[in-house]
Amino acid sequence: VSDMLVDSFGRLHTYLRISLTERCNLRCQYCMPAEGVELTPSPQVLSQNEIIRLANLFVSSGVDKIRLTGGEPTIRKDIEEICLQLSGLEGLKTLAITTNGITLARKLPKLKECGLSSLNISLDTLIPAKFEFMTRRKGHERVLESINAAIELGYNPVKVNCVVMRGFNDDEICDFVELTRDKPINVRFIEFMPFDGNVWNVKKLVPYSEMLDTVVRQFTQLKRIQDHPTETAKNFRIDGHQGTVSFITSMTEHFCAGCNRLRLLADGNFKVCLFGPSEIAFSPFPLSGLKSQIVTALHCSYGSFLSQVKRKKASHAGMFDIANTPNRPMVHIGG
Ligand code: GTP
Ligand code: 5AD
Ligand code: SF4
Repeated sequence: VSDMLVDSFGRLHTYLRISLTERCNLRCQYCMPAEGVELTPSPQVLSQNEIIRLANLFVSSGVDKIRLTGGEPTIRKDIEEICLQLSGLEGLKTLAITTNGITLARKLPKLKECGLSSLNISLDTLIPAKFEFMTRRKGHERVLESINAAIELGYNPVKVNCVVMRGFNDDEICDFVELTRDKPINVRFIEFMPFDGNVWNVKKLVPYSEMLDTVVRQFTQLKRIQDHPTETAKNFRIDGHQGTVSFITSMTEHFCAGCNRLRLLADGNFKVCLFGPSEIAFSPFPLSGLKSQIVTALHCSYGSFLSQVKRKKASHAGMFDIANTPNRPMVHIGG
């Protein structure tokens, strides 16, 4: 194994998150403002070919897990072909997706055939009216259908991402835990994080300690499971439950020491951390369009991506600093 993806703190980066599009069919409040965000013009969005070539370079350097994000990755028209090509990369062990589940149910059988190996579906409330309030769109029922479709297709666990916000869904935590009783669902309660345009406020953040108390009060047999050192989640099980319960504590107990994640954005820019330092730009291709020059330009970008890995910081700067530092809106980053 080469040290190309090892940073100055010895962290090996084997997990690449690729945002396939900045577009989304929902308008979640914690992700973007009501009016949406400015979109990168289509010709500047990474093409299928560029995605595969870049992914291939990362996989050759040691990446063994790719997660497709967005925006909403499933609205990209060539998603099946992208999955097929990525899952065929030698050395890739996991091809995952994080999706809002709105159009997933009907696309999933094909995506599974194309090599999609694991699924995280976002769902923040079990109440349809609240779903419409949070996402500013309809579709609650379709997300539930997608979760069930995923279970029926044998995905196990199906991870359900629930961003907890005070006064919105903090009263539903135990109802979400109930989902794990008879289904192979891993419910993941996520601390609300600040991004541009999402009006973050510490008062809306429900800390891990408080979420845990809420769960333990009703599910007294909650037991911690040993987590993998690179995991984002702190994992728990409950005797007799088929599924599991997790907490993603990005704000109150960050997990940066085990970070193995890199991010490629839909416009080709590269982020070594969800929150700063700044991005490395993807160099546009030479105008001549000669194939050899295109490949060279892509390798140049890749070289500058690798040098940014060496400049990755030990951890993020803390929630209050993050909240005051310009970043992108979440919908551009994909989590
Ligand atoms: P698995 O690969 O299944 O463990 O998923 P994941 O947690 O890596 O990814 P997912 O897209 O499901 O993200 C769940 C939550 O974790 C989202 O709120 C992400 O923003 C957050 N998250 C993912 N990766 C990181 C990270 O590197 N740092 C921080 N602080 N949060 C992250
Ligand atoms: N804080 C925490 N998690 C967020 N997500 C989106 N915005 C935020 C935020 N502000 C979650 C989504 C999705 C994952 C990629 O990130 O719900 O599941
Ligand atoms: Fe990694 Fe940055 Fe997330 Fe910390 S905040 S876990 S360093 S991506």
